[in-house]
Amino acid sequence: MKESGPYSDEVGVQTRLFEQRKRDHIRIALDPRSQTLGQNGLDSVELIHEALPNLNFKEVDISTSFVFNKTSVSLSSPIFISSMTAGHENGHQINEALARLSDSRQILMGVGSQRRELVDTSAAEEWSRVRKQAPKARLIGNIGIAQLIKSPIDSVRRLVDSTEALGLFVHVNPLQEALQPEGTTDFKNSLEAIENLVRIIGVPVIVKEVGCGFSVETLKRLDSTGVFAVDVSGKGGTHWGRVEAYRSEEDQVLHKVGQTFANWGVSTTQAMLNAKEARVSYEVWASGGVRNGLDAAKLIALGAVKVGLAKPFLEAALKGDRALEELLQKLELELKIALFCTGSKNLAELSRGKVLS
Ligand code: FNR
Repeated sequence: MKESGPYSDEVGVQTRLFEQRKRDHIRIALDPRSQTLGQNGLDSVELIHEALPNLNFKEVDISTSFVFNKTSVSLSSPIFISSMTAGHENGHQINEALARLSDSRQILMGVGSQRRELVDTSAAEEWSRVRKQAPKARLIGNIGIAQLIKSPIDSVRRLVDSTEALGLFVHVNPLQEALQPEGTTDFKNSLEAIENLVRIIGVPVIVKEVGCGFSVETLKRLDSTGVFAVDVSGKGGTHWGRVEAYRSEEDQVLHKVGQTFANWGVSTTQAMLNAKEARVSYEVWASGGVRNGLDAAKLIALGAVKVGLAKPFLEAALKGDRALEELLQKLELELKIALFCTGSKNLAELSRGKVLS
């Protein structure tokens, strides 16, 4: 039977499926069963305590910047909101709250997959509403590798334009796509697509996982593409094997297969060590199971230039602006204390020899 109403055509059907998937993701990601807690490897990373820091706590500086070509955008801290949601009704309020925080507190914010905008340009209206409330939000756009491979570069450029983004995240998520009944699993020619994007798009391109990390070899292969950064997004927090397993509870086969892969991936700590071994020339960013400012400090000591959190910001955004503000205050205070207690005046000092190895 032909469908009627606003979703009567193919684009409409795709849109409805996308919206449903995104709603499910938010609901399931909040369930503790979707987390690989204790697996980020950070418990075994020890910062060197400095009992006599030659510092006044008030001088400890966690500010940084996002520099591309000759443009520099100031940031109050290296902590960023990792990509989560875009393009569906329930997501609007979340994105508006996150963007207000990005605007008022000068931190980077990745928006969620803009896949829907590729087929339905009206989805971009979300960003005009966001921009009205958060004109100075430091947004980074988002596209999946499987969509990038298939999309004409002009439609990808529209994703950057619609968000007035400082850069573009390209998420790579083979496990998640393989576990989705409707997943896009053709990853052939990914490197060429990334290389082509970097050459043409004119904004920094940041490749990210979604919670399964990167091997040494993949990090090395990415070095030839000219990417600006890789966010290793390793295992230890939200895990998409788990999320997709719970989402497909009605499909017993997919549900069981998802559980088989419930602990798949490279931990965030191991991925950082892999980046060091790969000696890459791009910036290395970290996310995946970061739950406090001390986690962030450890990752910076391991070489991360920016550190992202997804689920904690989602939880706070659902509570409101005050909860978001308190979360960021807590994260930044913890990070500052870690700098003080390692005798680091700023982030550059923390990244030099402050970790036991
Ligand atoms: C995500 N993540 C994600 N990443 C991405 O690049 N595009 C996306 O659309 C989404 N969508 C999404 C939705 C929700 C609800 C969550 C919680 C996460 C992945 C995210 O950016 C991050 O890489 C992982 O979640 C790991 O970080 P946490 O959650 O452990 O802090």
